Amino acid sequence: MIVEPKVREFICTTAHPVGCRENVRRQIAYTKEQGEVKGIKKALIIGSSTGYGLASRIVSAFGAKAATIGVMFEKEGKAKRTASAGWYNNLAFEEFAKEEGIYAKTLNGDAFSKEIKEQVIELIKKDLGKVDTVIYSLAAPRRTMEDGTVYQSTLKTVGEEFVNKSLNLKNNTIETASISPANEEEIEATIKVMGGEDWLDWMRALKEADVLEDNAVTLAYSYIGPKLTYPVYFQGTIGLAKKHLKETAAVINEEFKNSGLKAYISVNKALVTQASAAIPVVPLYMAILYKTMKEMGNHENCIQQINRLFHEKKEGDSFKVDAENLIRLDDWEMEDAVQEAVIAAWDKVNSDNILEYADIEGYWEDFYNMFGFKFDFVDYTQDVEI
Ligand code: NAI
Repeated sequence: MIVEPKVREFICTTAHPVGCRENVRRQIAYTKEQGEVKGIKKALIIGSSTGYGLASRIVSAFGAKAATIGVMFEKEGKAKRTASAGWYNNLAFEEFAKEEGIYAKTLNGDAFSKEIKEQVIELIKKDLGKVDTVIYSLAAPRRTMEDGTVYQSTLKTVGEEFVNKSLNLKNNTIETASISPANEEEIEATIKVMGGEDWLDWMRALKEADVLEDNAVTLAYSYIGPKLTYPVYFQGTIGLAKKHLKETAAVINEEFKNSGLKAYISVNKALVTQASAAIPVVPLYMAILYKTMKEMGNHENCIQQINRLFHEKKEGDSFKVDAENLIRLDDWEMEDAVQEAVIAAWDKVNSDNILEYADIEGYWEDFYNMFGFKFDFVDYTQDVEI
């Protein structure tokens, strides 16, 4: 089949297998250039097929030569429908790992469910014995509980309506977006999906099954961002979920301290991923941030961020943290010079001058690349096996 991108606002409903493979290949090549990562031997990555989770798995496998088990929720291809990008990414990742004799197995299913947790534990017992690193990188729209209750996460404000500039992804113009406040139920549901409850469930299940090494490490990813996006992110529904995630790290640290396990939250940089493209106002912020950071020479993508996490934010067996026990991989994004330039551009940007202030091309390049499109070397006129 000849596969073309079918884009609807912040999602692409097709993915290109050859392009996704190229995306993974480049991330592996970059990781190898950064040299050896120490301290990961056997890792479990929950949310391993795209974005920060995929980058974490690549750094574990190709930086540290660790055996990895991945958990993802992706769609396989059908006769006339391509698989999801994460599915192709994972296929490529496993192939590359196999070529180098690096253990990699993946479970495709709902990470929130008890079944997947049991299957992962069984696989760890059978193949690895125990794991020393658990990376929790889920970004999910919903969570189904054991009793069938479904919680849906929302990206809304808390308290007041928020009105600000936003990028209209259909035609790259600036429009005014208004984001309405969530009700109590929506806030609670978002915390259920994106907060720390499931992370804690995972850690307890792994501990109970005795598949965690002593002094193991677990990491979950978060975002804070600038005041500009506070109403929709840090102080919005997703921010409350992230607050819960942070509190969960403290709960895990207390509960697991006898085994030496340490739980960390790494606050990462805003980057175009399937999850972040869906947040109102944030895509315009990202396009301006990309332009600013590229000009200042400190822009990074997911694989660069996660390599820096393991090469520069680690000190022996621990990670360097701030006063709130957070790893700050967003340090460059939050630098005063960067934020001042972003704010100045934000104030001036409109539909007529957008290309001057925002890296629209870079935004879309990352977006298309995520689904395996717009890679120079791939011949998109060729039939491919989907
Ligand atoms: P993503 O959408 O690229 O990746 C999500 C991963 O979760 C995929 O592997 C997907 O298959 C998996 N997944 C989703 N639902 C699942 C389910 N029910 N069961 C099993 N697997 C499931 O997202 P991204 O952006 O990499 O986000 C990962 C984490 O990083 C999130 O916690 C996010 O908040 C955080 N983060 C993201 C930033 C960004 O700008 N993209 C910035 C800072 C933190």
